[in-house]
Amino acid sequence: MRRKLIAGNWKMNGLGPALAEIAALRAALPDPPCDVLVCPPATLLHRVAVALEGSYIGVGGQDCHAEAAGARTGDISAAMLADAGARAVILGHSERRTDHGETSALVAAKARTAMAAGLLPILCVGETEAERAAGAALDVVRMQLVLSLPAGLGETVDPARLVVAYEPVWAIGTGRVPGEAEIAEVHGALRAGLAARMGAAAAAGVRLLYGGSVKPANAAALLAVPDVDGALVGGASLRATEFAAIVTASVRP
Ligand code: PGA
Repeated sequence: MRRKLIAGNWKMNGLGPALAEIAALRAALPDPPCDVLVCPPATLLHRVAVALEGSYIGVGGQDCHAEAAGARTGDISAAMLADAGARAVILGHSERRTDHGETSALVAAKARTAMAAGLLPILCVGETEAERAAGAALDVVRMQLVLSLPAGLGETVDPARLVVAYEPVWAIGTGRVPGEAEIAEVHGALRAGLAARMGAAAAAGVRLLYGGSVKPANAAALLAVPDVDGALVGGASLRATEFAAIVTASVRP
């Protein structure tokens, strides 16, 4: 049985005052019904980790470098994220792929480094609107998955230590979401792709998140779609009340 995971991606938002939202989130979720993760900007990571110490809410980064350490001005390694209190890291978000030209091969290298540092990688894949319109959505996400998975992934990897997020680019920050059948179709394809790589038993243990305009109002329906094991939430994760409502929706019938 896969335990649901609700992860919040604060993106390039969050100044010191946002810590009040963290305090409110902690108060709202003393015993959350699923795994909960907040991914603040790197500047706040340690402070958020300290504010959540002893709670059931984890902290993650939004990116890391593919190398473990070295002369990389301005970059942050996976081990440095872990040192600041992170236990997970979002990798290959479409905004990184678009804004920084990140390829799936680079994402795979980052995932390998993140896992070596003990972080849970959340690998993001998703098609553009044009790709969906061309009927290529499944092919695109299948290919991104295959190329973004770290080398050496086999049946020996604990599947609970890997998360994949399906985030259609056209649904991010737009208020639009795919139909439930479309999400189920993509998640089924991702599960099959993982099975081809890791074996069916291991693939069955990997959590597949849906991301893109998840809100309190649509969360229960999205989280009830077959093979949806949680959500990656952007805008709605910035407000404790909204994010807590999404977490609560994860267990509604
Ligand atoms: P959104 O972002 O919830 O604001 O659409 C999701 C994401 O980019 O992870």
